Amino acid sequence: MNTASIVALILTCACVGHASDNIEQDSKLLAPELVEKYGYPIENHYVTTTDGYILNLQRIPFGKNGNVNEKGIPVMLQHGLIASSADWVLAGPEKGFAYILADAGYDVWMGNARGNRYSRNHTTLDPDNDAKEFWNFSWHEIGIYDIPEMIDYILEKTGHSDLFHIGHSQGTTTFYVMCSEKPEYNQKIKAHFSLAPIAFMNHMVSPLIRFIALFQGGLGVLSNLVGAYEFNPSDGLLEKVTQTVCEEGVPKFACKNAMFALAGYNKDQMNTTLLPVITSHYPSSSATKQVLHYCQEMNSGYFRQYDHGLISNKIRYGTISPPDYKLNKISAAVYLLYSLNDWMSAEKDVNRLYDQLFNVPLKKIVDPNFNHIDYLWGIDAKTIVYDFIISEMRALTTIVT
Ligand SMILES: *[C@@H]1O[C@H](CO)[C@@H](O)[C@H](O)[C@H]1NC(C)=O
Ligand SMILES: *[C@@H]1O[C@H](CO)[C@@H](O)[C@H](O)[C@H]1NC(C)=O
Ligand SMILES: *[C@@H]1O[C@H](CO)[C@@H](O)[C@H](O)[C@H]1NC(C)=O
Repeated sequence: MNTASIVALILTCACVGHASDNIEQDSKLLAPELVEKYGYPIENHYVTTTDGYILNLQRIPFGKNGNVNEKGIPVMLQHGLIASSADWVLAGPEKGFAYILADAGYDVWMGNARGNRYSRNHTTLDPDNDAKEFWNFSWHEIGIYDIPEMIDYILEKTGHSDLFHIGHSQGTTTFYVMCSEKPEYNQKIKAHFSLAPIAFMNHMVSPLIRFIALFQGGLGVLSNLVGAYEFNPSDGLLEKVTQTVCEEGVPKFACKNAMFALAGYNKDQMNTTLLPVITSHYPSSSATKQVLHYCQEMNSGYFRQYDHGLISNKIRYGTISPPDYKLNKISAAVYLLYSLNDWMSAEKDVNRLYDQLFNVPLKKIVDPNFNHIDYLWGIDAKTIVYDFIISEMRALTTIVT
């Protein structure tokens, strides 16, 4: 064997080794470390909410081509339930929405809601030692504190008066909560894109939510199964729930993960190479109350505030039932992007939401077969969803002279 072929052999081995090393490495990195590894600028910002939660807002101010547009328009990405900013970066620069937006000239800000891996902090409470008080929130509080306060921070830092907001799943719920409870924030939104919208939930089929919702009112039994304060579904529960998810060909380690128990698995769009990275980032921590609030919506068919029970509702809200979110207060433009194979966001529920919103420039089935998480890591997410959103955003900001 001559030197050249030995070199070639070594190079081949290095390359073959490289792909799986890369996946292994990515499974160990935090979201900001991933961004850095892929050669993009990353900044960590911390926002302390009025009720004391310390949130880690992560920014990719510009893309690979450098700071081409010094005043890049800010885009805020907001993740879903048991998720985090990793949603937008773990698939790498070719596929991750955050990189694609940065390369398209936007100033990308990735929110992290209270309690998740990156925002597990508070000025006075400890998530483990003060669990009862720390985890005492639902997505209502994320919608009235975290999202608007992160938006104010972004606008102040960038000097812009409004931004694009893109939410996935719970990241759409918290947007609707914000704009209906704090209507002054509608003015701070250039446009909002809802990926897999969630407001009404009574047609949703997620086995994890359906199973937990069976225990309505019985937090006693439930707290053993999912955790009384921090959401922490037991292996037993997940195994029971995922029997229906784990079809043939789905790797065992993936189907036991709470993310797949929640959202299902779509073989057509799932890049199995990426699975170890996905399962290393998910589930991210969240409060049991976030899940219970969704279960209440599923059982009641309403999109309304947390149900504390008749007496507490009367004391807190002045009525025995919780008040509805006033969707008619949402004046910001809402683009609804959904599909027909989504376990969390059912077409009937999206249509009902559409009927109650009055500024929807577009309601679109992105792909009938997409499931809930294909918006994040689907093989065709870039071509079907991201490129489309970017072209819509460009159309909205074209200056007409
Ligand atoms: C929580 O926030 C405090 C105050 O900003 C900071 O000193 C501390 O390092 C943070 N803890 C963690 C675990 O991030
Ligand atoms: C939870 O928060 C509510 C306000 O939303 C408050 O009334 C209640 O006392 C809190 N409970 C705990 C255990 O901190
Ligand atoms: C699957 O993910 C791997 C690792 O990120 C990537 O290299 C590959 O291009 C992806 N394949 C497809 C079809 O998206």
